[in-house]
Amino acid sequence: MAPISLLLLTIAIQALSASGCYETERNALLAFKADLIDPRNRLASWKSQNCCTWKGVVCSNTTGHILKLNLRNSYDNNDFLYYGKRPSALGGKISPSLLLLNHLGHLDLSLNNFSEIRIPEFFGSLKNLRYLNLSEACFSAMVPPQLGNLSKLHYLDLNSFDCDTNIRVDNFLWLAHMSSLHYLDISSVNMSFATNWLQSINMLPSLKYLDLSTTSLLTIPTSLPFINITTLRVLKISSSRINSTLPRWLWNLTSITHLDLSFNEFHGIIPDELSCLKSLNVLFLGSNNFKGMSPKAFSNLCGLNTLDLGGVGFSGEINKWVERLPNCMQKNLQILYFPYNNLRGNLLGWLEYMTSLTEIDLTANLLNGTIPLGVWRLTNLTRLYLQSNSFEGTITEVQLSHLQRLKWLDLAYNSFNMQISHNWIPPFQLKTLHLASCNLGPKFPTWLQGQTQLEELGLSKNGIVDTLPNWLWNMSRSLTYVHISNNQIKGKLPLTLDHVMLLYLNLSSSQLEGPLPALPQILSVLDLSNNFFVGPILNATLLRLQYLLLSNNSFDGNLPFALCESTSLQVLDISNNKLSGEIPSCLGVSQDQLLVLDMMNNTLSGKIPTSLGELRALSILDLSNNRLSGKIPSSLQYCRQLVNLNLGYNNFSRTIPKWIGESLRVLMVLFLRSNGFSGSIPSQITQLGYLRVLDLSHNNLSGCIPQSIGELSWKKGVPTDHMLFFQYGSFDVSAGTAYLVVKGAAREYSKLLYLVESIDLSCNNLYGEIPNEIGDLQALQYLNLSMNHLTGHIPDQIGMMHALESLDVAMNKLSGTIPQSLATLNFLSSLNVSYNNLSGKIPSGYQLQTLDDPSIYIGNPYLCGPPTMQNCSTNETTIIFGKKSHDRFERLGLYISVVLGFVIGFWIFFGTLLLSRSFRNTYFSAIDRTYDRLYVAVALTLIRLRRRCGEM
Ligand SMILES: *[C@@H]1O[C@H](CO)[C@@H](O)[C@H](O)[C@H]1NC(C)=O
Ligand SMILES: *[C@@H]1O[C@H](CO)[C@@H](O)[C@H](O)[C@H]1NC(C)=O
Ligand SMILES: *[C@@H]1O[C@H](CO)[C@@H](O)[C@H](O)[C@H]1NC(C)=O
Ligand SMILES: *[C@@H]1O[C@H](CO)[C@@H](O)[C@H](O)[C@H]1NC(C)=O
Ligand SMILES: *[C@@H]1O[C@H](CO)[C@@H](O)[C@H](O)[C@H]1NC(C)=O
Repeated sequence: MAPISLLLLTIAIQALSASGCYETERNALLAFKADLIDPRNRLASWKSQNCCTWKGVVCSNTTGHILKLNLRNSYDNNDFLYYGKRPSALGGKISPSLLLLNHLGHLDLSLNNFSEIRIPEFFGSLKNLRYLNLSEACFSAMVPPQLGNLSKLHYLDLNSFDCDTNIRVDNFLWLAHMSSLHYLDISSVNMSFATNWLQSINMLPSLKYLDLSTTSLLTIPTSLPFINITTLRVLKISSSRINSTLPRWLWNLTSITHLDLSFNEFHGIIPDELSCLKSLNVLFLGSNNFKGMSPKAFSNLCGLNTLDLGGVGFSGEINKWVERLPNCMQKNLQILYFPYNNLRGNLLGWLEYMTSLTEIDLTANLLNGTIPLGVWRLTNLTRLYLQSNSFEGTITEVQLSHLQRLKWLDLAYNSFNMQISHNWIPPFQLKTLHLASCNLGPKFPTWLQGQTQLEELGLSKNGIVDTLPNWLWNMSRSLTYVHISNNQIKGKLPLTLDHVMLLYLNLSSSQLEGPLPALPQILSVLDLSNNFFVGPILNATLLRLQYLLLSNNSFDGNLPFALCESTSLQVLDISNNKLSGEIPSCLGVSQDQLLVLDMMNNTLSGKIPTSLGELRALSILDLSNNRLSGKIPSSLQYCRQLVNLNLGYNNFSRTIPKWIGESLRVLMVLFLRSNGFSGSIPSQITQLGYLRVLDLSHNNLSGCIPQSIGELSWKKGVPTDHMLFFQYGSFDVSAGTAYLVVKGAAREYSKLLYLVESIDLSCNNLYGEIPNEIGDLQALQYLNLSMNHLTGHIPDQIGMMHALESLDVAMNKLSGTIPQSLATLNFLSSLNVSYNNLSGKIPSGYQLQTLDDPSIYIGNPYLCGPPTMQNCSTNETTIIFGKKSHDRFERLGLYISVVLGFVIGFWIFFGTLLLSRSFRNTYFSAIDRTYDRLYVAVALTLIRLRRRCGEM
């Protein structure tokens, strides 16, 4: 404390009254300024004599003392594009010289960036403060309890939206002293460790506004002994994952006008007591898990103008739900959000009578029928979202002509047929237009050209057979989202798109050609897969890139080092191109969010860089079908989240590392086929509890099949700890997508893998016997041990592998009889035991009856019984194939046919998984759906921003 007092003293000594401004206060401000970082020189005016004229400083007209300090950063509309990095934010330290402003009643530091420091404790000594706005000032660490000394404070805003500083409040006791407080915003402050917060807040008898959104609260008291905050008008507790029934004390907040409980896990029934909240205007209950609502829940709520019941888990007829909204409310309702439920029925007889409606969102329900004429006459409509239902009918410019106020239109993914003439001039200026699957083609809709405020445009799957017009990139300065995939759009992109504010660009599955244009710096999602693009894959550094999907093109050249600078990358898919050279050795070093790295089907060479081991979140690593060589770097053992490791069809060599089994605990696919791996199969591999696909075939492996092979337990489902990992974060955009992408992909994987639980060790130099323990693999469907040097018998335990559909042990040195138990395998549809030394009678019965192709058994001269020609009753053995017909040429022919049969078998089982289009499509559509979610998440953020801005 001593140095601070000294400082204050020295400043105070110089105190002399100057014209219109106290010298003490002026010096205090100068000391304050000196500690600040002001990158854009916003405080340039802070030097003249009269400090009352300085920017942001307000003095009393009567006493001359400083009353207000307003240093709110100006909010640039485009700032959100830069993820909170506000270029003109003040930062640095806050000097205690502010304490000399004895009369300061109003302090606003909002939208700056003080991430280096905590909120200063001395703020608690600014005794006259009535207004303190630190919203999005991004202070760090714990909020000091000293703030509780501000007994005159009316307004406290600590909202930390868009800050990543982990500001938190653990204890709320200090709040109880702030008896004058009527506005309290703690949103986006971490309250996950807070105890008794509601009890403390309940001590604030004047409270009118309370925002506790995104505070990581997980619980909320459902009952209170008394309720003090009955003057509360606005209560927001959204996005906190609270898992609870609706708290009973809510129904005593009878003055409440605005209630937002959206994005939590509230469950149970929306009760009749809701109707006690007669003053309610705005009600957000979306994204919770309600079972339903009581018939009278809404009965008194005539003043309600905004109702959000999106994604609450309702199903049944939509009319039945609407009937529960009283008539008086239906007349007044302006905003109706009912998306993401399972509602059936149509819009007839209700929607058109809600004549005050400005916004309707019925996205993603099961609604059908045509849109009633009356709906097209709701002339106040600004938002019409009907996406992803089964609506039908023709829409022409006639219907749209009454909607002059429309700003957000989404009709995508229905069965609409849009017939709009190309010279139509729409009566509206849209911000959002989503018309995927609306039959707009074959010409590109030229009527869009006048939409100068458009931010989002979606025109996928419209049968457009045309070129992409150049005006598209210039029509609106706000264009951030363009999704025009799955059309037959031809031509090239312009040389540069870097003047467009694009965050999201998806032109996949078209017929575009030529090189990549210069891309916008802020681009976050780029999907150009399934086109005919050529040239290098990136020509500049894109710092914000999260998804880069360029598969199925003809990109060539080396992988640019610029890729490593995209530190937010989550999915990098450059598969099926003509890329060559080495994988950059910097890849992975600072990309801790990368989940999918898919480079298959290129001509990459060199080694796997050890830097890939830094990708601690990596789930899918597919480098198959390249020319990579060397050993598997040991750093990969740190990629502990790997679900799919595919290095097949390369030139890798050395041994298969032991740590694969020890460290990659959630591995489901290990695919090392067609390489030069040698040594024996490490038994540690059998510890991989989630493994579904083990393919080590076509290598130089020797040694025995590990005895412990029966320990592969073939657990169903996706590893649970893995899922936990993806559930980090709640609603922030990147975490949300991460969760969905990989969940989506993993879901697709698990679906496919469920069909193919398989082991392929064929074409190696394995010797020894087939362990009896193989019988423990009771979920295994595909087993291929062919073309090795295995000896001994086919174990009788094979009959326990009840799920087995395909068994191939051809071209080994197996002897003895074929176990009779084989006949009990009900699903066996493919069998090959050819070219061994098996003998005796071929078992018969059940499934084996259908496997009557003699080539299954060929090359085993001592086998007898059908389907061979050999008769078992005679002891004489007529050798049909084998030594007698030991014609090298013929043998070679047979060899080829066996290999061919084997290859075909391989494709039946793996074709879908690896290379086929259908798999790629499911894979991509999973990601595609994710984009929609990404888009939803971005949109939600924007809505929140807008709501917030609207209120301020
Ligand atoms: C001081 O006077 C000016 C104009 O004379 C007025 O606009 C302003 O609101 C007054 N400020 C205060 C704090 O009274
Ligand atoms: C409100 O809170 C104060 C402080 O705890 C308490 O003394 C008072 O009884 C409460 N008022 C009501 C009506 O419960
Ligand atoms: C809420 O209101 C009901 C009925 O008006 C009353 O019986 C109950 O005590 C109140 N609850 C609290 C916590 O004040
Ligand atoms: C919510 O809590 C219930 C038990 O009270 C539990 O069964 C359910 O799984 C929880 N839901 C979530 C999403 O955590
Ligand atoms: C709408 O769907 C229902 C089933 O939910 C069906 O019975 C009805 O025929 C459909 N109506 C139209 C117009 O397709």
